Amino acid sequence: MQNNHTIIFPEGDSIEPMQLADLIAVHQLECASQQEPWSLQHFADELDNPVATVILYWHCGQLAGFLCSWLIAGELQIQNLATLPALRRRGVAARLLEHAIARSRVAGLTSVWLEVRASNAPAIALYKRFGFSACGKRCAYYPDGEDALIMTFDAVRSEE
Ligand SMILES: CC(C)(COP(=O)(O)OP(=O)(O)OC[C@H]1O[C@@H](n2cnc3c(N)ncnc32)[C@H](O)[C@@H]1OP(=O)(O)O)[C@@H](O)C(=O)NCCC(=O)NCCS
Repeated sequence: MQNNHTIIFPEGDSIEPMQLADLIAVHQLECASQQEPWSLQHFADELDNPVATVILYWHCGQLAGFLCSWLIAGELQIQNLATLPALRRRGVAARLLEHAIARSRVAGLTSVWLEVRASNAPAIALYKRFGFSACGKRCAYYPDGEDALIMTFDAVRSEE
């Protein structure tokens, strides 16, 4: 999946950078998806953060998903990722990940990192299918005491 730099979209679907006007829709999707949602201000701050990029997946004019990442010294950190519940298992998150990785390769990507709740089976399945592997654990990382798995993806090896 990670080697496919030409992303194939169903008709009517596209990925675009987040704009100020998208903030409310993004925050609504966040609230429908996450146990501890980011605030609207958190997303607004990403727009002002020079290392941050938020990309949005549009399906026939409807916001279907988003991915927030930071690219620092060749390392891409996935900060947040969600797909609208009604549009899951259609490849939205996979295409967002492919897009973020392909864009970052142009800027010298070496590795991708993320933290995921240890109980988040759908997200862990997505990342494993993509080629990520678990490389550590942060104990009681989340406010409710749940552990985080640290997962990584070697972007150099995956291109060989
Ligand atoms: C995790 C999440 C982003 C996946 O989004 P999605 O658009 O449904 O994922 P995709 O359709 O691109 O899935 C790609 C592959 O990932 C795996 N996968 C995704 N969801 C899965 C699930 N519920 N169970 C098992 N495997 C799953 C599958 O291998 C899937 O391919 P397949 O459908 O051909 O079997 C979505 O479930 C979500 O928004 N969850 C709540 C927010 C969240 O947990 N974000 C991640 C934080 S780290």
